[in-house]
Amino acid sequence: MHIQANYPLEKHNTFKINVNAQYYVEIFRQSDITVLRSDLTLASLPWRIIGGGSNMLFTGDIKGVVVHCGYKQIKIVKEDADNVWVSVGAGNDWHELVEWSVNHGYWGLENLALIPGDVGAAPVQNIGAYGSEARDAITRVQTLNLFNGERREFRNADCNFGYRTSIFKQEYTDRLVVHRVTFRLHKLHAGIPNIMYEPLKQALAEVPKADITPKMVFDEIVKIRRKRLPDPKNFGNAGSFFKNPVVNSEYFQEILENYPDIPHHKTLDGHFKIPAAWLIEAANWKGQRNGRAGVSNRHALVIENLGGATGQDIIELAQMIQDAVDHKFGIHLEPEVIFI
Ligand code: EPU
Repeated sequence: MHIQANYPLEKHNTFKINVNAQYYVEIFRQSDITVLRSDLTLASLPWRIIGGGSNMLFTGDIKGVVVHCGYKQIKIVKEDADNVWVSVGAGNDWHELVEWSVNHGYWGLENLALIPGDVGAAPVQNIGAYGSEARDAITRVQTLNLFNGERREFRNADCNFGYRTSIFKQEYTDRLVVHRVTFRLHKLHAGIPNIMYEPLKQALAEVPKADITPKMVFDEIVKIRRKRLPDPKNFGNAGSFFKNPVVNSEYFQEILENYPDIPHHKTLDGHFKIPAAWLIEAANWKGQRNGRAGVSNRHALVIENLGGATGQDIIELAQMIQDAVDHKFGIHLEPEVIFI
């Protein structure tokens, strides 16, 4: 464990915002927290947790201690005829875990290929894409208490998983750090592909369903994402900036009268989810810029750092987009990205 003062965080956030942490420390085990807490200077400061930095926006230098969990062990902890349970350290790269799983022929994570970030962020944000969410595969989440190092284990049902949210993003934010996540994955013969997402279904239409493997789904997802989403290696971004809004049925009917082509998806409780990307594009913000921040011209839900943007530049642009969508559709877009 190595404590670094005045530490640049540019490489720790995919937006590539250049801010400093007063202190930065990577922890690996329970005792690291108790050791750090015994330092009176560190203990008196606020502590913040970061994962791979793919879903956060730094709005200025961070006073206090920024903690990242670097624990990387991957271990199969249980197995039966049809499943394996894999316990994975929070510090592993998410995409590498997905790759590992499909290379072993396991079902469960293949639709979540190429999502940037650490394994530890998967339960916090309940990451999701192409008809699948992390909560579908997570059985347990082991955390460490940032104040006293105490271990706590959450079963899936205790995690309050929702659309891009969980208990770790709500009441336990900056109090519990995810240390390990256990996933139940299905063995090759015991799983089926989740290809309800239309472009995925089309891409695999020629292959008999029984012949589809996790690796084939993974390869298609990688192709789809590379084609549709801008790469943070070119311009810093954090994937979807806003959540897709949900409106009630009456309000949806009103919108539909004016915009009969609006894409939508009926939720289980009878509401309607509308793609924020469509709303932003319809409000004429796709490809527009405000100073050093811009809306991607490939996908309207992605805000990019066009070079040297500050967190404030991004927030200003996000507010302009929110105002435009609110003005045109009466819908408030809520950020998915966490502001720090
Ligand atoms: N669309 C536009 N303009 C655009 C892009 C999309 O009008 O520039 C419309 C199209 O009608 C399209 C619809 O929006 O059919 C939905 O677009 P897409 O399939 O790309 O999905 P999304 O709803 O924009 C969500 C997730 C993504 C995830 C994709 C695929 C959220 C906030 N985002 O995006 O997750 O990869 O579905 O399942 O739910 C992320 O969370 O960072 C993320 C990238």
